[in-house]
Amino acid sequence: MAEVSDQLKRNISLAVPRSDDTTVKGKKIISFPFQDPLPFATRVLAKAFQTNANNIGTRLHNADGSEGGFEGSQELERRLLSMIAEILGAKSEEVDGFMTLGATASNLDGMQIGREKGRTPDKQCKNTTAIFGSFLTHYSIDRAAKTLNIAPNFDDTENDDGTGYYKLGTDGRGRVLVEQIEEKIERIAAEHPIVTHFIVVGNAGTTMLGSVDDIPQIDALITKLKARFPEKHFHFHVDAAFGAFVAPFLRDVPDIGFRNKNVGTVGVDIYKTLPGHVGSGALFVRRDLANVTRSSSEYVPIGGSISSVGSKPGAMAVACYAILRLLGKKGLQENAQRLMSIASFARDQLSELNLHLFPNDLPIIGVSGRFPVELLDYYIVHESTFPLNGRQPLREDSGFAHIWNVVAMPHIEKNILHLTADYRWVLHGRNSLWNID
Ligand SMILES: Cc1ncc(COP(=O)(O)O)c(C=O)c1O
Repeated sequence: MAEVSDQLKRNISLAVPRSDDTTVKGKKIISFPFQDPLPFATRVLAKAFQTNANNIGTRLHNADGSEGGFEGSQELERRLLSMIAEILGAKSEEVDGFMTLGATASNLDGMQIGREKGRTPDKQCKNTTAIFGSFLTHYSIDRAAKTLNIAPNFDDTENDDGTGYYKLGTDGRGRVLVEQIEEKIERIAAEHPIVTHFIVVGNAGTTMLGSVDDIPQIDALITKLKARFPEKHFHFHVDAAFGAFVAPFLRDVPDIGFRNKNVGTVGVDIYKTLPGHVGSGALFVRRDLANVTRSSSEYVPIGGSISSVGSKPGAMAVACYAILRLLGKKGLQENAQRLMSIASFARDQLSELNLHLFPNDLPIIGVSGRFPVELLDYYIVHESTFPLNGRQPLREDSGFAHIWNVVAMPHIEKNILHLTADYRWVLHGRNSLWNID
């Protein structure tokens, strides 16, 4: 027992960063969204895990029937979902929703609903779906497109018959070009009658640049396309993994949620920008689409599940509920503003280095260029590529700029000072300030 206990203690604390020391094996975190979970919520989580509550099948609107014995955590999941729905601009009765294990799972379910809606049983197996996003859209959409047999090939996601996954260009800030969505859908609808289902993915925001697509403009486009092609099915999914708890509290970011009447599903993460626990996310879906993916099972006494996640920890629902109630709307507002002001601070510091910084809608700052190799041993940085004029889809292989990014979290204030000092040292061979503390 002592041996197991020692091993667990060692491994649990092995290289795990905390806000007051974000060094992992000598490297400081720059591009990783994490915060320490609220200590109270961690205590609640630990306590709730002492029983093995299972929220299988729990959703916002099935109060009358869930797996017996876990009513406490199931009620808190429904209350939590109702609060988040409101943040996303929906009245609780307008949408359904359920917790997932994170935005990857939420995106998969969103894509499945888009693929299945209005589908007749005889067409279940045939691929008749095309997905549209930007080249900055998160790779979980690639994975969903592959899993759902919409774009079975990771390397070339556009199929000859018009189905597949189309990664469109963005403007210079990283927002998808809405005119490209329009052109592509019009062309595919005209040339490929086999394509009956069109799914548009809106980013709120992108993993690398923190850019938020113009969701209201896409919404208006979908209204237009629905009138033009009444026989087709259109689905609008918003990936709000990063933005769900920030964008709604910022005046300069247009609405990302259900006030846009064509938005059918919104995926969120509860831990990225909040002091929550990894493994907590949710999907919200308009009421009329909620049962599109429902599976029934006699032994689950809830009339089946509408989610691809089966058993899920009731304890996580309890902890997330605690976090949202403790923060309240005012706390969420303050959290969003705090992250944005940390981002401004990071921008100011980086600007002094004469780097090209992409404008950011959310607290993620994309920096043009390669991260200096001399510093790779000291910082954890995510790098990617970006078309130079921002207008080409990724698959055109000329004119790319490299980018790396800073995800503005509380620990970044200190790390960015280290980084800018070291950057100067790399540039000018002077002033390394590792002793900046
Ligand atoms: C925009 C976006 N969507 C989805 C995801 C996937 O989230 P998770 O890792 O919680 O599944 C991420 C993760 O970084 C993301 O940035």
